[in-house]
Amino acid sequence: MDNDFFSNKKFLFDLWASSYDWLFPSVFYQAVQKRLLEYVDLPERSSNVLDIGCGTGRLLERLATQFPELRGTGLDLSTNMLRMARLSNRHHPRLIFIEGKAESLPFANGQFDAVFSTISFLHYLEPQQVISEIARVLSPGGRFYLVDITSNKEVEPQLLPISPRGIRLYSPNQRQLLGSSAGLLCLSHHYLLGFVLLTIFAKP
Ligand SMILES: C[S@@+](CC[C@H](N)C(=O)[O-])C[C@H]1O[C@@H](n2cnc3c(N)ncnc32)[C@H](O)[C@@H]1O
Repeated sequence: MDNDFFSNKKFLFDLWASSYDWLFPSVFYQAVQKRLLEYVDLPERSSNVLDIGCGTGRLLERLATQFPELRGTGLDLSTNMLRMARLSNRHHPRLIFIEGKAESLPFANGQFDAVFSTISFLHYLEPQQVISEIARVLSPGGRFYLVDITSNKEVEPQLLPISPRGIRLYSPNQRQLLGSSAGLLCLSHHYLLGFVLLTIFAKP
């Protein structure tokens, strides 16, 4: 995939990072994350989770507070988003933040009990590649929590011309197909806020 695409996305989120947690949209993102927590089910023992496109790390912060044994890794394309995440990390070394791309995850097979993606999957040009990577790093029985704005267009993903190369919205059915082509089972869908839909997948 061309480097311009990643540089443009990175540039956009690097610019946004320092105001991300206090601008109006973050109120929306944080409300979505709070609702998501109502559906999160993690193993009793200390679990190891990954947040892809973690931004400023707010979701991992919430998870680490709710699950005191949890260890978490946040991965993001944007150096500045990660800088903000590290600055407000109250759970180091249980939480760590690293730079990388969702399309090629720098982790071993079966390393995580759960993977999260909130309002980030819609940015990916190669969703199939990303979901295969997620399936690879999940342990058997692990869960993938996908939270994004959904669409009711069934033929192909709805393309909105915002952000470099647009964003892609997937219907519940399209999500299910994406998951199954990577060997993930779609367990359920839940509307969190307006058109923001949580889809929960399991790795058999
Ligand atoms: C709208 S923000 C959402 C951040 C956070 N998940 C939240 O809910 O507040 C989208 C994030 O995805 C990251 N991102 C976009 N494309 C990415 C990619 N290919 N790999 C890793 N991160 C990516 C951006 O840098 C940005 O931090």
